[in-house]
Amino acid sequence: MKPTVAVVLAAGKGTRMKSALPKVLHEACGQPLLTWVVDSVHQAGINDVVVVTGHGSDAVRAMLQQRYGARVRTVLQAEQRGTGHAAQMALPAIGDCDDVLLVYGDTPLLTPASLQRLLQARREQDAAVALWTTTMAQPHGYGRIVREGNQVVAIAEQRDATPAQQQITEVNPGVYCVRASFLGSALGQLQPQNAQGEYYLTDLIMLANAARERVVGVGVDVQETDGINDRVQLAAASKLLRTRIVRHHQRAGVTFVDDENVWVDASVVMGEDVVVEPMVRLQGATRIGANVRLGQGSVLVDTVVGDGVVIKPYSVCEQATVGARSVVGPFTRLRPDAVLDEDAHVGNFVELKKTKLGKGSKANHLAYLGDAVIGAGVNVGAGTITCNYDGVAKHQTTLDDGVFVGSNSTLVAPLHVHERAYVAAGSVITDEVEADALAFGRAKQHNKAGYAAQLRQRQQAAKGKT
Ligand code: UD1
Ligand code: CA
Repeated sequence: MKPTVAVVLAAGKGTRMKSALPKVLHEACGQPLLTWVVDSVHQAGINDVVVVTGHGSDAVRAMLQQRYGARVRTVLQAEQRGTGHAAQMALPAIGDCDDVLLVYGDTPLLTPASLQRLLQARREQDAAVALWTTTMAQPHGYGRIVREGNQVVAIAEQRDATPAQQQITEVNPGVYCVRASFLGSALGQLQPQNAQGEYYLTDLIMLANAARERVVGVGVDVQETDGINDRVQLAAASKLLRTRIVRHHQRAGVTFVDDENVWVDASVVMGEDVVVEPMVRLQGATRIGANVRLGQGSVLVDTVVGDGVVIKPYSVCEQATVGARSVVGPFTRLRPDAVLDEDAHVGNFVELKKTKLGKGSKANHLAYLGDAVIGAGVNVGAGTITCNYDGVAKHQTTLDDGVFVGSNSTLVAPLHVHERAYVAAGSVITDEVEADALAFGRAKQHNKAGYAAQLRQRQQAAKGKT
């Protein structure tokens, strides 16, 4: 058996999206519609995927190249003259094979298992075409499946269907497996004789019947077949995909406090015994360890979280790494390259950027730490600021193991505070501090005895005069 080739049609504009962006690049659960289709095709075991691009071709190809590299090839359909025409464009790119799977790039809900069932049905029954069918209460817009007994004899497009055919609720989701030898000859016979003056891929069914070939319909759950034509359908499909992702994590040991109000990208990985509170958003390459609690309203993008971490509510983390058993938030902001070692604590209104916080170190309140390397067991007091930017360049702050920074300190970089040194509260520190030293960087305090009492007497006297 020769390997199957898949052709994904993605050249259309998607007029009904009302968008400058090509339809297949619109995102559902954090990834373009087209990638949902390509991923499912790959997962069905088909490694040779040809995508037909046209409208917005450069952007679509760039996305595919970045995500799949050589695992996806593209061909251009310069002018969009119908789904049959798009398939014709792919024909020269289809090498020697037995089966060709044809799918549309705007049907993100399809699953690998149902694709495999289709391939199997085509082979087992030696059909020229096997196609998915499904039943919809509101079939408007879809091609209707016209049957004679078991055999599918035609697909009637919405605009070409007779009133009787429009009553048919069995529709064409647009997923076909075609015997390769039949596809080549049939595509050459397509004629644009229909309401839209287009070459319809769906006419393959009619041609197979004319050639006295078998055409089999494979029933598929309607939850897999929604095509996206407008933004209402995009939202509905996103919801279904979101639920699938959530179910997957639930079965793998994740508790969602409110499983309808969380947004988890398909790419996110989570360990066992994770608890996700409401309104949490997990995106991109985010990886969550085991025994983690993700607090309400937190947003994690491309962030790696170790085992036993607690992220308290309303924390925002992007391209950050949080070591095992650390505690973050509430209201923490971890910006790119914030790296917390194990057992670190970062609290409310603390912002970290390009900063490593060592094992067991703490910055619990109101601080900005940027371009800093902070050792183990360091205490950063409330209100501490690294002055990392002089208006031209960024400079680094280094706090060695065991350093204690008193509250409201201003650390002017470049700066190095050595092991176990203390920085007095309210200091402006501009010079290196040696190990075990105490650095004061503030005006000395003067107390004027009795002066407050004198002030009050003067105020009383002034009042008495008016
Ligand atoms: C198509 C089917 C219809 C089916 C429905 C399922 C045909 C003629 N009709 O209708 O039977 O019920 O899908 O969703 O096939 N495309 C190209 N080049 C073109 C035209 C389209 O690549 O010249 C691509 C589009 O990018 C899209 C897909 O083919 O991904 C389907 O095109 P669309 O215009 O959405 O077809 P429908 O009218 O939905
Ligand atoms: Ca469509």
